[in-house]
Amino acid sequence: MHEDDNLLIKGNNLLALYSLKSRYARKVRLIYIDPPYNTGNDGFLYNDRFSHASWFTFMRNRLEVARDFLSEDGLIVIHIDDNEQAYLKVLMDGIFGRENFVGDLIRKTKSTTNDAKTGFNIQHENTLIYAKDKVKIKLIGQKKTFEKYKNPDNDPNGAWKSSDPSARSGDYYFPIKNPYTGRIDYPPENRQWLFSERRLQDYIDSGKIVFRKEHSENQRGFIFKRYRSEIRSEYNLLGSLEGADNRYMNQKATKERNKLFGEVEFAYPKPESFAELIIRASTKPGDIVLDFFAGSGTTAAVAHKMERQWIAVEQMDYIRELIKTRMKKVIEGEQGGISKEVGWEGGGSFVYAELAASNSAFADRIGSAKNISTLLSIKNDMQKTGFLRYDVDMDAFDEDEFANLSLGDAKRVLMDCLDTNHLYVNLNSIGDGQFFVSNQDSAINRLFYGIAE
Ligand SMILES: C[S@@+](CC[C@H](N)C(=O)[O-])C[C@H]1O[C@@H](n2cnc3c(N)ncnc32)[C@H](O)[C@@H]1O
Repeated sequence: MHEDDNLLIKGNNLLALYSLKSRYARKVRLIYIDPPYNTGNDGFLYNDRFSHASWFTFMRNRLEVARDFLSEDGLIVIHIDDNEQAYLKVLMDGIFGRENFVGDLIRKTKSTTNDAKTGFNIQHENTLIYAKDKVKIKLIGQKKTFEKYKNPDNDPNGAWKSSDPSARSGDYYFPIKNPYTGRIDYPPENRQWLFSERRLQDYIDSGKIVFRKEHSENQRGFIFKRYRSEIRSEYNLLGSLEGADNRYMNQKATKERNKLFGEVEFAYPKPESFAELIIRASTKPGDIVLDFFAGSGTTAAVAHKMERQWIAVEQMDYIRELIKTRMKKVIEGEQGGISKEVGWEGGGSFVYAELAASNSAFADRIGSAKNISTLLSIKNDMQKTGFLRYDVDMDAFDEDEFANLSLGDAKRVLMDCLDTNHLYVNLNSIGDGQFFVSNQDSAINRLFYGIAE
């Protein structure tokens, strides 16, 4: 296992973040996440119906540790909608600092009208962007095309386009006379020339300003050239409305999902084009991109195609059929999503790992128990291995009382006895025989964390 391996991890993201922290602290350039929006929608396979307070705590716990992963010039970008965006903004202000709020990138989600009841159709979502330190970041928008720059008069200064010689913030006001036609131009109303009278002469001598031999009534008597070589940045700024375009809508993502996976049950993936917008704006090849709400793996797929290193975490079993399958296809050169745009031809690799469960095996057994006697035998096993909450005295456990509980209540009592901190094996205990971690897994972990045997 190497420092620069791409990583796909199955497990609860809070525990995964704590497990990854020692290795990736201050190394991640971009955290790009799409958490549950808490819409109260039961259509999701994962929980999207927290109480507001528990959603807030759930997010706070994760965002606090996530911040430690960011490099000094790192950014975190989060999808959200109106249900929680204002609260998330306040939460983020608290964790990242109000001064590090970069902006809210609007994403157009749909064009159809569907809320006839209120007469108001919400067609966008929010994308909150925060920097670890706003002074140290520089986002970039779309690459400039320079198509309009040409050189019809063989100007030795190279390609140029005709440009406005005036501005509201200009400093100079004087007449400019065309020597061929006699036309006199002044700056338009409320504007001034961008150059002084003396500079005008230099510009005429160098060919930056060219008088027209003929012109129409409404045409200025001269051309002011902006040379391609004068443009310092190859990129436009990233506009907050850049995502308000049809190519970023949900419908696009659903089509991509169907093409990749056929009919699968996975609601609301994000389109690759939007992930590309974010990743291009904030990272360069080789940078690390982390997504700990990976879903169907859009971030990982796009980061991979754009030659960024990625780490993706997802808790649900569909990680195998969705993200693993998708990444294998990407490596084989899959041509959907942004592939053509970025000239993706395949290649690369990733490492798949699962957080080793300890008590979660008990949690699974409790969950699927069909009767109280099964629960009682689970309780006995739990007592033997002993990963119980420190304040639970199992010996004082009254079996008769337990037997009289409803199945649901009995399950809750047992779940409560499990120490949830021990749902996953932590590194220090990995060598303990009681966890049944294979020697091979143990060795991989030591390698991963750089620990000598
Ligand atoms: C909105 S989806 C992300 C969709 C993704 N952007 C895409 O394009 O496919 C949120 C994902 O976060 C996962 N998730 C929610 N809570 C989690 C947790 N505690 N640990 C790990 N994953 C979690 C859910 O299972 C779900 O797959």
